[in-house]
Amino acid sequence: MALPTSSVITLNVNGEPRTLPVDHRTTLLDALRERLDLTGTKKGCDHGQCGACTVLLDGRRAVSCLHLAVAAEGREITTVEGLADGGRLHPVQQAFLDLDGYQCGYCTPGQICSAVGVLREHAEGWPSAVTGDLRPEAGPPELTPEEIRERMSGNLCRCGAYNAIVEAVAHAADSTSAAPAADTEEAVA
Ligand code: FES
Ligand code: FES
Repeated sequence: MALPTSSVITLNVNGEPRTLPVDHRTTLLDALRERLDLTGTKKGCDHGQCGACTVLLDGRRAVSCLHLAVAAEGREITTVEGLADGGRLHPVQQAFLDLDGYQCGYCTPGQICSAVGVLREHAEGWPSAVTGDLRPEAGPPELTPEEIRERMSGNLCRCGAYNAIVEAVAHAADSTSAAPAADTEEAVA
């Protein structure tokens, strides 16, 4: 008897259940872009190398080209379209706008999702490969430009907007209030 090659699944995307039939080989990236019309998430390499397809899975960043859609059932999926709070941009989105953290913008949704994950990981005290003092009593490392560059190193930018991206992530980390003022539509690259 032939095994089924497709299933009807429900993905929790940006707080909403989305039910769709998928071939079992469909990546989460293709399901988001081609089936759910969430084209903010970009396809760069499709091989886990560039970070353009980064989304948040249960709050952790993940490259959606390396995840099967069927395996994402039951997870909380957040794409760049789901970061803003109504008409108020996420502080990371606002910082990218304010500090020109992009040129062509193709890598920007992945950069922003990754930066949101970075700030969360840092707030939880996760070290990086360049963290000097790993003793628990040393506390969370300072989010220096070197730390930001290391933590964001999975996200490539062919335009080379790295200096402004680092500035934007640092600015978002420093911002104490999530009080952005622009419209949501401006933020979704
Ligand atoms: S498209 Fe997924 S890492 Fe490049
Ligand atoms: S802004 Fe063009 S690839 Fe990053």
